[in-house]
Amino acid sequence: PSQPFDHNVRDLSLAAAGRHQIRLAEHEMPGLMALREMYGESKPLAGARIAGSLHMTVQTAVLIETLVALGATVRWASCNIFSTQDEAAAAVVVGPHGTVEDPQGVPVFAWKGETLEEYWDCTEQILTWGEDEAGEPVYANMILDDGGDATMLVHNGRAWEQAGVVPPTDDDDSVEVGVFKALVRRTLAQDPTKWTRVSEHILGVTEETTTGVHRLYELARAGELLFPAINVNDSVTKSKFDNKYGCRHSLIDGINRATDVLIGGKVAVVCGYGDVGKGCAESLRGQGARVIVTEVDPICALQAAMDGYQVATLDDVVGQGDIFVTATGCFDVIRADHMLAMKNKAIVGNIGHFDNEIDMAGLARVPGVTKTEIKPQVHEWTLPATDDQPERSIIVLSEGRLLNLGNATGHPSFVMSNSFANQTIAQIELFTKQDDYTTQVYVLPKHLDEMVARLHLDALGVGLTELSKAQAEYLGVDVAGPYKPEHYRY
Ligand code: NAI
Repeated sequence: PSQPFDHNVRDLSLAAAGRHQIRLAEHEMPGLMALREMYGESKPLAGARIAGSLHMTVQTAVLIETLVALGATVRWASCNIFSTQDEAAAAVVVGPHGTVEDPQGVPVFAWKGETLEEYWDCTEQILTWGEDEAGEPVYANMILDDGGDATMLVHNGRAWEQAGVVPPTDDDDSVEVGVFKALVRRTLAQDPTKWTRVSEHILGVTEETTTGVHRLYELARAGELLFPAINVNDSVTKSKFDNKYGCRHSLIDGINRATDVLIGGKVAVVCGYGDVGKGCAESLRGQGARVIVTEVDPICALQAAMDGYQVATLDDVVGQGDIFVTATGCFDVIRADHMLAMKNKAIVGNIGHFDNEIDMAGLARVPGVTKTEIKPQVHEWTLPATDDQPERSIIVLSEGRLLNLGNATGHPSFVMSNSFANQTIAQIELFTKQDDYTTQVYVLPKHLDEMVARLHLDALGVGLTELSKAQAEYLGVDVAGPYKPEHYRY
Protein backbone atom coordinates (compact mmCIF):
# COMPACT_ATOMS: atom_id res chain seq x y z
CA PRO A 1 0.00 0.00 0.00
CA SER A 2 1.06 3.59 -0.62
CA GLN A 3 1.68 6.17 2.13
CA PRO A 4 -1.59 7.22 3.78
CA PHE A 5 -2.27 10.91 3.41
CA ASP A 6 -4.76 13.29 4.97
CA HIS A 7 -7.76 14.50 3.01
CA ASN A 8 -11.33 15.53 3.70
CA VAL A 9 -14.05 14.85 1.15
CA ARG A 10 -17.71 13.78 1.38
CA ASP A 11 -17.48 10.10 0.43
CA LEU A 12 -14.63 8.22 -1.25
CA SER A 13 -17.04 5.64 -2.62
CA LEU A 14 -18.16 8.27 -5.14
CA ALA A 15 -14.74 7.99 -6.79
CA ALA A 16 -15.77 5.56 -9.52
CA ALA A 17 -18.56 7.87 -10.68
CA GLY A 18 -16.16 10.79 -10.58
CA ARG A 19 -13.55 8.89 -12.59
CA HIS A 20 -16.00 8.23 -15.44
CA GLN A 21 -16.80 11.94 -15.61
CA ILE A 22 -13.12 12.86 -15.52
CA ARG A 23 -12.42 10.44 -18.38
CA LEU A 24 -15.08 12.09 -20.54
CA ALA A 25 -13.89 15.56 -19.52
CA GLU A 26 -10.33 14.71 -20.63
CA HIS A 27 -11.67 14.18 -24.12
CA GLU A 28 -13.14 17.70 -24.03
CA MET A 29 -9.98 19.31 -22.62
CA PRO A 30 -7.49 19.12 -25.50
CA GLY A 31 -5.41 22.01 -24.14
CA LEU A 32 -4.62 20.25 -20.88
CA MET A 33 -4.04 16.90 -22.58
CA ALA A 34 -1.63 18.53 -25.06
CA LEU A 35 0.32 20.04 -22.16
CA ARG A 36 0.61 16.56 -20.63
CA GLU A 37 2.09 15.40 -23.97
CA MET A 38 4.44 18.38 -24.22
CA TYR A 39 5.71 18.37 -20.64
CA GLY A 40 4.94 14.90 -19.28
CA GLU A 41 8.51 13.75 -19.70
CA SER A 42 10.51 16.88 -18.81
CA LYS A 43 8.32 17.49 -15.71
CA PRO A 44 8.92 21.24 -15.33
CA LEU A 45 6.85 21.31 -12.13
CA ALA A 46 9.00 18.75 -10.28
CA GLY A 47 9.59 20.26 -6.85
CA ALA A 48 6.53 22.50 -7.02
CA ARG A 49 4.19 22.12 -4.03
CA ILE A 50 1.01 23.72 -5.30
CA ALA A 51 -1.75 24.89 -2.97
CA GLY A 52 -4.85 25.04 -5.15
CA SER A 53 -7.92 27.03 -4.10
CA LEU A 54 -10.36 26.66 -6.96
CA HIS A 55 -13.86 25.15 -7.36
CA MET A 56 -13.34 21.37 -6.94
CA THR A 57 -15.20 20.25 -10.06
CA VAL A 58 -14.64 17.53 -12.68
CA GLN A 59 -12.77 20.04 -14.86
CA THR A 60 -10.54 21.01 -11.95
CA ALA A 61 -9.79 17.32 -11.43
CA VAL A 62 -8.31 17.23 -14.94
CA LEU A 63 -6.26 20.34 -14.10
CA ILE A 64 -4.97 18.77 -10.86
CA GLU A 65 -3.96 15.56 -12.61
CA THR A 66 -2.24 17.60 -15.32
CA LEU A 67 -0.18 19.45 -12.70
CA VAL A 68 0.75 16.08 -11.18
CA ALA A 69 1.68 14.69 -14.62
CA LEU A 70 4.02 17.67 -14.98
CA GLY A 71 5.80 16.73 -11.74
CA ALA A 72 4.01 18.85 -9.12
CA THR A 73 2.73 17.70 -5.78
CA VAL A 74 -0.60 19.29 -4.98
CA ARG A 75 -3.09 19.94 -2.17
CA TRP A 76 -6.52 21.28 -3.06
CA ALA A 77 -9.49 23.10 -1.55
CA SER A 78 -12.50 24.68 -3.20
CA CYS A 79 -12.86 28.47 -3.35
CA ASN A 80 -16.56 28.38 -2.58
CA ILE A 81 -18.62 26.50 0.00
CA PHE A 82 -21.15 25.21 -2.57
CA SER A 83 -19.08 24.55 -5.70
CA THR A 84 -17.48 21.16 -5.02
CA GLN A 85 -18.64 18.14 -7.01
CA ASP A 86 -18.23 15.45 -4.39
CA GLU A 87 -17.63 12.66 -6.91
CA ALA A 88 -14.81 14.64 -8.53
CA ALA A 89 -13.21 15.34 -5.15
CA ALA A 90 -13.38 11.63 -4.27
CA ALA A 91 -11.89 10.57 -7.60
CA VAL A 92 -8.95 12.97 -7.20
CA VAL A 93 -8.18 11.59 -3.74
CA VAL A 94 -8.37 7.97 -4.92
CA GLY A 95 -6.40 8.84 -8.06
CA PRO A 96 -6.42 7.07 -11.42
CA HIS A 97 -4.47 4.08 -10.03
CA GLY A 98 -5.67 3.92 -6.41
CA THR A 99 -8.65 2.30 -4.75
CA VAL A 100 -11.07 3.49 -2.09
CA GLU A 101 -9.15 1.32 0.42
CA ASP A 102 -5.76 2.52 -0.84
CA PRO A 103 -6.09 6.06 -2.18
CA GLN A 104 -3.08 7.15 -4.23
CA GLY A 105 -4.16 10.50 -5.56
CA VAL A 106 -4.01 14.03 -4.20
CA PRO A 107 -5.05 15.40 -0.79
CA VAL A 108 -8.30 17.29 -1.35
CA PHE A 109 -10.11 19.21 1.38
CA ALA A 110 -13.50 20.09 -0.12
CA TRP A 111 -17.14 19.05 -0.10
CA LYS A 112 -20.39 20.59 -1.29
CA GLY A 113 -22.02 22.55 1.51
CA GLU A 114 -19.13 23.50 3.78
CA THR A 115 -19.69 25.90 6.64
CA LEU A 116 -17.59 29.08 6.53
CA GLU A 117 -15.46 27.74 9.40
CA GLU A 118 -14.84 24.53 7.48
CA TYR A 119 -14.08 26.52 4.34
CA TRP A 120 -11.26 28.46 6.00
CA ASP A 121 -9.95 25.32 7.72
CA CYS A 122 -9.68 23.68 4.30
CA THR A 123 -7.87 26.72 2.92
CA GLU A 124 -5.38 26.53 5.77
CA GLN A 125 -4.86 22.81 5.05
CA ILE A 126 -3.63 23.45 1.52
CA LEU A 127 -0.89 25.83 2.68
CA THR A 128 0.48 23.75 5.57
CA TRP A 129 1.78 20.37 4.40
CA GLY A 130 2.64 18.62 7.66
CA GLU A 131 6.22 17.50 8.32
CA ASP A 132 8.97 15.90 6.30
CA GLU A 133 10.92 12.78 7.37
CA ALA A 134 13.24 14.92 9.52
CA GLY A 135 10.25 16.37 11.37
CA GLU A 136 10.57 19.78 9.69
CA PRO A 137 7.34 21.53 8.70
CA VAL A 138 6.60 21.57 4.98
CA TYR A 139 4.71 24.37 3.27
CA ALA A 140 3.29 25.00 -0.16
CA ASN A 141 5.65 26.88 -2.47
CA MET A 142 3.12 27.89 -5.16
CA ILE A 143 -0.50 29.08 -4.97
CA LEU A 144 -3.07 28.52 -7.68
CA ASP A 145 -5.93 30.77 -6.64
CA ASP A 146 -9.45 31.65 -7.75
CA GLY A 147 -10.77 34.79 -6.11
CA GLY A 148 -7.69 35.31 -3.98
CA ASP A 149 -8.76 33.76 -0.67
CA ALA A 150 -5.61 31.63 -0.22
CA THR A 151 -3.46 34.62 -1.16
CA MET A 152 -5.41 36.83 1.25
CA LEU A 153 -4.97 34.34 4.09
CA VAL A 154 -1.18 34.43 3.66
CA HIS A 155 -1.04 38.22 3.28
CA ASN A 156 -3.43 39.16 6.08
CA GLY A 157 -2.13 36.43 8.36
CA ARG A 158 1.40 37.73 7.97
CA ALA A 159 0.41 41.41 8.24
CA TRP A 160 -1.55 40.84 11.45
CA GLU A 161 1.20 38.62 12.80
CA GLN A 162 3.83 41.29 12.20
CA ALA A 163 1.60 43.98 13.69
CA GLY A 164 1.29 41.73 16.74
CA VAL A 165 -2.50 41.80 16.71
CA VAL A 166 -5.40 40.35 14.77
CA PRO A 167 -8.06 43.06 14.72
CA PRO A 168 -10.94 41.89 16.92
CA THR A 169 -14.19 41.02 15.21
CA ASP A 170 -16.02 44.26 14.69
CA ASP A 171 -19.80 44.80 14.86
CA ASP A 172 -19.60 46.05 11.27
CA ASP A 173 -17.85 42.91 10.05
CA SER A 174 -19.77 40.59 7.78
CA VAL A 175 -20.12 36.98 8.94
CA GLU A 176 -17.41 36.09 6.39
CA VAL A 177 -14.90 38.56 7.80
CA GLY A 178 -15.67 37.48 11.35
CA VAL A 179 -15.03 33.82 10.53
CA PHE A 180 -11.84 34.70 8.67
CA LYS A 181 -10.44 36.70 11.60
CA ALA A 182 -11.33 33.86 13.96
CA LEU A 183 -9.30 31.43 11.85
CA VAL A 184 -6.26 33.70 11.80
CA ARG A 185 -6.54 34.22 15.57
CA ARG A 186 -6.68 30.45 16.13
CA THR A 187 -3.73 29.68 13.83
CA LEU A 188 -1.60 32.41 15.43
CA ALA A 189 -2.46 31.17 18.92
CA GLN A 190 -1.10 27.76 17.90
CA ASP A 191 1.91 29.11 16.04
CA PRO A 192 2.73 32.83 16.34
CA THR A 193 5.07 32.97 13.31
CA LYS A 194 3.14 30.65 11.05
CA TRP A 195 2.09 33.07 8.30
CA THR A 196 5.49 34.73 7.99
CA ARG A 197 7.03 31.31 7.41
CA VAL A 198 4.31 30.28 4.96
CA SER A 199 4.77 33.52 3.02
CA GLU A 200 8.54 33.03 2.83
CA HIS A 201 8.04 29.70 1.07
CA ILE A 202 5.66 30.95 -1.61
CA LEU A 203 7.39 31.60 -4.92
CA GLY A 204 4.33 32.90 -6.72
CA VAL A 205 0.60 32.82 -7.33
CA THR A 206 -1.44 32.39 -10.49
CA GLU A 207 -4.92 33.90 -10.20
CA GLU A 208 -7.98 32.74 -12.08
CA THR A 209 -10.68 35.40 -11.82
CA THR A 210 -11.48 39.10 -12.24
CA THR A 211 -12.19 39.63 -8.55
CA GLY A 212 -8.97 37.91 -7.40
CA VAL A 213 -6.92 39.82 -9.94
CA HIS A 214 -8.43 43.05 -8.65
CA ARG A 215 -7.22 42.14 -5.15
CA LEU A 216 -3.70 41.40 -6.48
CA TYR A 217 -3.37 44.77 -8.22
CA GLU A 218 -4.52 46.49 -5.01
CA LEU A 219 -1.83 44.67 -3.02
CA ALA A 220 0.79 45.56 -5.65
CA ARG A 221 -0.28 49.24 -5.67
CA ALA A 222 -0.03 49.38 -1.87
CA GLY A 223 3.46 47.83 -2.05
CA GLU A 224 2.18 44.86 -0.01
CA LEU A 225 2.39 42.05 -2.55
CA LEU A 226 4.69 39.39 -1.11
CA PHE A 227 5.47 37.31 -4.21
CA PRO A 228 5.15 37.48 -8.02
CA ALA A 229 1.71 36.93 -9.49
CA ILE A 230 0.38 36.00 -12.90
CA ASN A 231 -3.02 37.34 -13.81
CA VAL A 232 -4.48 34.37 -15.67
CA ASN A 233 -7.89 36.02 -15.97
CA ASP A 234 -6.65 38.57 -18.49
CA SER A 235 -5.22 36.08 -20.90
CA VAL A 236 -7.53 36.62 -23.84
CA THR A 237 -8.14 32.88 -23.99
CA LYS A 238 -9.43 33.08 -20.40
CA SER A 239 -11.62 36.14 -19.83
CA LYS A 240 -12.96 36.40 -23.38
CA PHE A 241 -13.88 32.71 -23.34
CA ASP A 242 -14.52 31.34 -19.83
CA ASN A 243 -16.15 34.48 -18.46
CA LYS A 244 -18.26 34.96 -21.57
CA TYR A 245 -18.97 31.62 -23.27
CA GLY A 246 -18.66 29.69 -20.02
CA CYS A 247 -21.34 31.81 -18.35
CA ARG A 248 -23.43 31.69 -21.52
CA HIS A 249 -23.63 27.95 -20.87
CA SER A 250 -23.67 27.65 -17.10
CA LEU A 251 -25.94 30.57 -16.13
CA ILE A 252 -29.08 29.06 -17.61
CA ASP A 253 -27.92 25.60 -16.53
CA GLY A 254 -28.01 26.87 -12.94
CA ILE A 255 -31.38 28.60 -13.33
CA ASN A 256 -32.89 25.52 -14.99
CA ARG A 257 -31.63 23.01 -12.45
CA ALA A 258 -32.67 25.25 -9.58
CA THR A 259 -36.13 26.30 -10.74
CA ASP A 260 -37.07 24.60 -14.02
CA VAL A 261 -38.93 27.81 -14.87
CA LEU A 262 -39.52 28.58 -18.55
CA ILE A 263 -37.17 31.41 -19.44
CA GLY A 264 -38.75 32.28 -22.82
CA GLY A 265 -40.94 35.39 -22.68
CA LYS A 266 -39.78 36.36 -19.21
CA VAL A 267 -38.08 39.64 -18.39
CA ALA A 268 -34.51 39.02 -17.23
CA VAL A 269 -32.37 41.75 -15.69
CA VAL A 270 -28.58 41.32 -15.93
CA CYS A 271 -26.57 43.67 -13.72
CA GLY A 272 -23.16 44.30 -15.26
CA TYR A 273 -22.21 43.98 -18.94
CA GLY A 274 -18.55 43.01 -18.70
CA ASP A 275 -17.31 39.65 -19.96
CA VAL A 276 -19.58 37.65 -17.64
CA GLY A 277 -22.62 39.89 -18.16
CA LYS A 278 -22.25 39.64 -21.95
CA GLY A 279 -22.38 35.85 -21.79
CA CYS A 280 -25.31 35.91 -19.35
CA ALA A 281 -27.36 38.33 -21.42
CA GLU A 282 -26.78 36.28 -24.56
CA SER A 283 -27.79 33.02 -22.90
CA LEU A 284 -31.01 34.47 -21.53
CA ARG A 285 -31.85 36.03 -24.89
CA GLY A 286 -31.08 32.69 -26.51
CA GLN A 287 -33.88 31.19 -24.42
CA GLY A 288 -36.27 33.91 -25.57
CA ALA A 289 -36.13 36.12 -22.51
CA ARG A 290 -36.48 39.89 -22.91
CA VAL A 291 -33.24 41.08 -21.36
CA ILE A 292 -32.59 44.38 -19.59
CA VAL A 293 -29.02 45.34 -18.67
CA THR A 294 -27.83 47.67 -15.92
CA GLU A 295 -24.36 49.23 -16.10
CA VAL A 296 -22.26 51.99 -14.52
CA ASP A 297 -19.65 52.15 -17.29
CA PRO A 298 -20.86 54.20 -20.28
CA ILE A 299 -18.81 52.10 -22.71
CA CYS A 300 -20.36 48.83 -21.55
CA ALA A 301 -23.81 50.46 -21.40
CA LEU A 302 -23.42 51.57 -25.01
CA GLN A 303 -22.23 48.10 -26.01
CA ALA A 304 -25.32 46.59 -24.42
CA ALA A 305 -27.58 49.06 -26.21
CA MET A 306 -25.92 48.33 -29.54
CA ASP A 307 -26.23 44.61 -28.91
CA GLY A 308 -29.96 45.25 -28.75
CA TYR A 309 -30.66 45.20 -25.03
CA GLN A 310 -32.69 47.73 -23.09
CA VAL A 311 -30.35 49.46 -20.63
CA ALA A 312 -31.94 50.90 -17.51
CA THR A 313 -31.30 51.47 -13.84
CA LEU A 314 -32.36 48.74 -11.46
CA ASP A 315 -34.58 51.19 -9.59
CA ASP A 316 -36.54 51.82 -12.78
CA VAL A 317 -37.11 48.17 -13.76
CA VAL A 318 -37.07 46.28 -10.49
CA GLY A 319 -40.85 45.75 -10.60
CA GLN A 320 -40.73 44.30 -14.14
CA GLY A 321 -38.13 41.55 -13.85
CA ASP A 322 -38.91 37.86 -13.50
CA ILE A 323 -35.23 36.86 -13.24
CA PHE A 324 -32.37 38.97 -11.81
CA VAL A 325 -28.69 38.10 -12.21
CA THR A 326 -25.75 40.06 -10.81
CA ALA A 327 -22.45 39.87 -12.72
CA THR A 328 -20.55 42.95 -11.56
CA GLY A 329 -17.82 42.04 -9.06
CA CYS A 330 -19.26 44.98 -7.06
CA PHE A 331 -21.22 44.91 -3.77
CA ASP A 332 -24.79 45.85 -2.79
CA VAL A 333 -25.93 45.77 -6.40
CA ILE A 334 -29.31 44.28 -5.45
CA ARG A 335 -30.31 45.67 -2.05
CA ALA A 336 -33.08 44.59 0.31
CA ASP A 337 -35.29 47.48 -0.80
CA HIS A 338 -34.94 46.24 -4.39
CA MET A 339 -36.01 42.74 -3.36
CA LEU A 340 -39.00 44.16 -1.50
CA ALA A 341 -40.10 45.86 -4.72
CA MET A 342 -39.87 42.74 -6.91
CA LYS A 343 -42.74 40.74 -8.41
CA ASN A 344 -44.11 37.68 -6.67
CA LYS A 345 -41.82 34.65 -7.33
CA ALA A 346 -39.08 36.68 -8.98
CA ILE A 347 -35.85 34.67 -9.17
CA VAL A 348 -32.70 36.33 -7.84
CA GLY A 349 -29.18 35.01 -8.30
CA ASN A 350 -25.57 36.06 -8.54
CA ILE A 351 -22.86 34.80 -10.89
CA GLY A 352 -20.10 37.18 -9.71
CA HIS A 353 -17.34 35.79 -7.53
CA PHE A 354 -18.49 36.91 -4.08
CA ASP A 355 -21.91 36.81 -2.46
CA ASN A 356 -21.93 40.49 -1.52
CA GLU A 357 -23.48 41.51 -4.88
CA ILE A 358 -26.88 40.74 -3.35
CA ASP A 359 -27.49 42.09 0.15
CA MET A 360 -28.58 38.81 1.74
CA ALA A 361 -27.87 40.07 5.25
CA GLY A 362 -30.16 43.04 4.58
CA LEU A 363 -32.89 40.72 3.29
CA ALA A 364 -32.65 38.57 6.41
CA ARG A 365 -33.11 41.70 8.57
CA VAL A 366 -36.43 42.70 6.91
CA PRO A 367 -39.05 42.47 9.71
CA GLY A 368 -41.39 39.52 9.22
CA VAL A 369 -39.40 37.88 6.41
CA THR A 370 -39.28 34.06 6.42
CA LYS A 371 -37.04 31.63 4.54
CA THR A 372 -38.17 28.21 3.26
CA GLU A 373 -35.77 25.70 1.77
CA ILE A 374 -37.23 24.37 -1.48
CA LYS A 375 -34.15 22.18 -1.94
CA PRO A 376 -30.46 22.71 -1.18
CA GLN A 377 -29.27 26.02 -2.65
CA VAL A 378 -32.83 27.11 -3.54
CA HIS A 379 -34.71 29.23 -1.00
CA GLU A 380 -38.03 30.98 -1.04
CA TRP A 381 -38.03 34.21 0.95
CA THR A 382 -41.56 35.26 1.91
CA LEU A 383 -41.95 38.99 2.29
CA PRO A 384 -44.61 40.43 4.58
CA ALA A 385 -47.58 42.34 3.18
CA THR A 386 -47.17 46.11 3.10
CA ASP A 387 -49.69 48.93 2.54
CA ASP A 388 -49.30 48.68 -1.22
CA GLN A 389 -48.31 45.00 -1.68
CA PRO A 390 -49.80 41.69 -0.52
CA GLU A 391 -47.62 38.95 0.97
CA ARG A 392 -45.36 37.55 -1.77
CA SER A 393 -42.12 35.67 -2.12
CA ILE A 394 -38.91 35.67 -4.14
CA ILE A 395 -36.63 32.74 -4.95
CA VAL A 396 -32.95 33.20 -4.10
CA LEU A 397 -30.39 30.86 -5.64
CA SER A 398 -27.33 29.55 -3.77
CA GLU A 399 -27.88 32.05 -0.95
CA GLY A 400 -26.43 34.74 -3.21
CA ARG A 401 -23.23 32.80 -4.01
CA LEU A 402 -22.28 32.09 -7.60
CA LEU A 403 -25.27 30.19 -8.91
CA ASN A 404 -23.66 28.49 -11.89
CA LEU A 405 -21.45 26.52 -9.50
CA GLY A 406 -23.91 26.32 -6.60
CA ASN A 407 -26.97 25.20 -8.58
CA ALA A 408 -25.20 23.54 -11.52
CA THR A 409 -21.70 22.25 -12.19
CA GLY A 410 -20.03 25.41 -13.48
CA HIS A 411 -18.58 25.84 -16.93
CA PRO A 412 -18.23 22.89 -19.31
CA SER A 413 -14.90 21.21 -19.92
CA PHE A 414 -13.99 22.64 -23.31
CA VAL A 415 -13.97 26.25 -22.15
CA MET A 416 -12.20 25.35 -18.89
CA SER A 417 -9.49 23.65 -20.93
CA ASN A 418 -8.59 27.13 -22.20
CA SER A 419 -8.59 28.67 -18.71
CA PHE A 420 -6.67 25.80 -17.14
CA ALA A 421 -4.11 25.58 -19.95
CA ASN A 422 -3.33 29.22 -19.06
CA GLN A 423 -3.16 28.27 -15.37
CA THR A 424 -0.75 25.40 -16.08
CA ILE A 425 1.49 27.52 -18.30
CA ALA A 426 1.47 30.30 -15.68
CA GLN A 427 2.53 27.84 -12.96
CA ILE A 428 5.39 26.61 -15.18
CA GLU A 429 6.44 30.22 -15.90
CA LEU A 430 6.58 31.32 -12.27
CA PHE A 431 8.09 28.10 -10.96
CA THR A 432 10.79 27.60 -13.59
CA LYS A 433 11.75 31.25 -14.30
CA GLN A 434 11.93 32.68 -10.81
CA ASP A 435 14.63 35.17 -11.79
CA ASP A 436 12.46 36.68 -14.53
CA TYR A 437 9.60 37.68 -12.23
CA THR A 438 9.66 40.25 -9.42
CA THR A 439 6.86 40.96 -6.95
CA GLN A 440 4.46 42.41 -9.46
CA VAL A 441 1.38 41.23 -11.33
CA TYR A 442 2.06 39.94 -14.84
CA VAL A 443 -0.04 38.63 -17.70
CA LEU A 444 1.20 35.80 -19.91
CA PRO A 445 2.92 36.85 -23.13
CA LYS A 446 0.73 36.87 -26.22
CA HIS A 447 2.48 33.98 -27.96
CA LEU A 448 1.42 31.71 -25.07
CA ASP A 449 -2.14 33.05 -25.24
CA GLU A 450 -2.17 32.25 -28.97
CA MET A 451 -0.73 28.81 -28.24
CA VAL A 452 -3.63 28.05 -25.89
CA ALA A 453 -6.11 28.99 -28.61
CA ARG A 454 -4.22 26.93 -31.18
CA LEU A 455 -4.42 23.84 -28.96
CA HIS A 456 -8.23 24.02 -29.17
CA LEU A 457 -8.74 24.48 -32.91
CA ASP A 458 -8.44 20.91 -34.18
CA ALA A 459 -11.12 19.63 -31.84
CA LEU A 460 -13.57 22.07 -33.42
CA GLY A 461 -12.45 21.38 -36.99
CA VAL A 462 -11.21 24.92 -37.45
CA GLY A 463 -9.30 25.54 -40.67
CA LEU A 464 -6.84 28.31 -39.84
CA THR A 465 -5.51 30.51 -42.64
CA GLU A 466 -1.74 30.96 -42.71
CA LEU A 467 -0.17 34.27 -43.69
CA SER A 468 2.26 34.22 -46.58
CA LYS A 469 5.68 35.64 -45.81
CA ALA A 470 4.85 38.71 -47.89
CA GLN A 471 1.53 39.20 -46.10
CA ALA A 472 3.22 38.86 -42.72
CA GLU A 473 5.79 41.46 -43.73
CA TYR A 474 3.01 43.75 -44.94
CA LEU A 475 1.31 43.48 -41.54
CA GLY A 476 4.59 43.72 -39.68
CA VAL A 477 4.14 40.42 -37.85
CA ASP A 478 5.84 37.05 -37.84
CA VAL A 479 4.19 34.26 -39.85
CA ALA A 480 3.99 32.28 -36.58
CA GLY A 481 2.57 35.20 -34.57
CA PRO A 482 1.95 37.02 -32.31
CA TYR A 483 -0.59 38.59 -34.64
CA LYS A 484 -1.77 41.55 -32.61
CA PRO A 485 -0.13 44.38 -30.66
CA GLU A 486 -0.48 44.38 -26.87
CA HIS A 487 -3.12 47.12 -26.95
CA TYR A 488 -5.48 45.16 -29.22
CA ARG A 489 -8.72 44.35 -27.36
CA TYR A 490 -10.34 41.47 -29.29
P1 NAI B 1 -15.88 42.88 -15.71
O1 NAI B 1 -15.12 43.89 -14.97
O2 NAI B 1 -15.55 42.56 -17.14
O3 NAI B 1 -17.44 43.24 -15.69
C1 NAI B 1 -18.15 43.72 -14.59
C2 NAI B 1 -19.07 44.83 -15.11
O4 NAI B 1 -19.95 45.23 -14.07
C3 NAI B 1 -18.28 46.07 -15.54
O5 NAI B 1 -18.59 46.41 -16.87
C4 NAI B 1 -18.74 47.14 -14.54
O6 NAI B 1 -18.80 48.43 -15.13
C5 NAI B 1 -20.11 46.64 -14.13
N1 NAI B 1 -20.54 47.12 -12.82
C6 NAI B 1 -19.78 47.34 -11.70
N2 NAI B 1 -20.54 47.77 -10.69
C7 NAI B 1 -21.83 47.80 -11.16
C8 NAI B 1 -23.06 48.16 -10.58
N3 NAI B 1 -23.13 48.56 -9.31
N4 NAI B 1 -24.17 48.07 -11.35
C9 NAI B 1 -24.10 47.68 -12.65
N5 NAI B 1 -22.95 47.33 -13.25
C10 NAI B 1 -21.83 47.40 -12.52
O7 NAI B 1 -15.79 41.54 -14.84
P2 NAI B 1 -16.19 40.06 -15.32
O8 NAI B 1 -15.00 39.38 -15.85
O9 NAI B 1 -17.42 40.15 -16.13
O10 NAI B 1 -16.48 39.38 -13.90
C11 NAI B 1 -17.59 39.75 -13.09
C12 NAI B 1 -17.58 38.89 -11.83
O11 NAI B 1 -17.78 37.52 -12.19
C13 NAI B 1 -16.26 38.91 -11.06
O12 NAI B 1 -16.54 38.82 -9.69
C14 NAI B 1 -15.57 37.65 -11.54
O13 NAI B 1 -14.59 37.23 -10.63
C15 NAI B 1 -16.72 36.72 -11.65
N6 NAI B 1 -16.61 35.56 -12.53
C16 NAI B 1 -17.46 34.52 -12.28
C17 NAI B 1 -17.45 33.40 -13.06
C18 NAI B 1 -18.37 32.28 -12.76
O14 NAI B 1 -18.21 31.20 -13.32
N7 NAI B 1 -19.36 32.43 -11.92
C19 NAI B 1 -16.54 33.27 -14.20
C20 NAI B 1 -15.71 34.43 -14.42
C21 NAI B 1 -15.76 35.52 -13.61
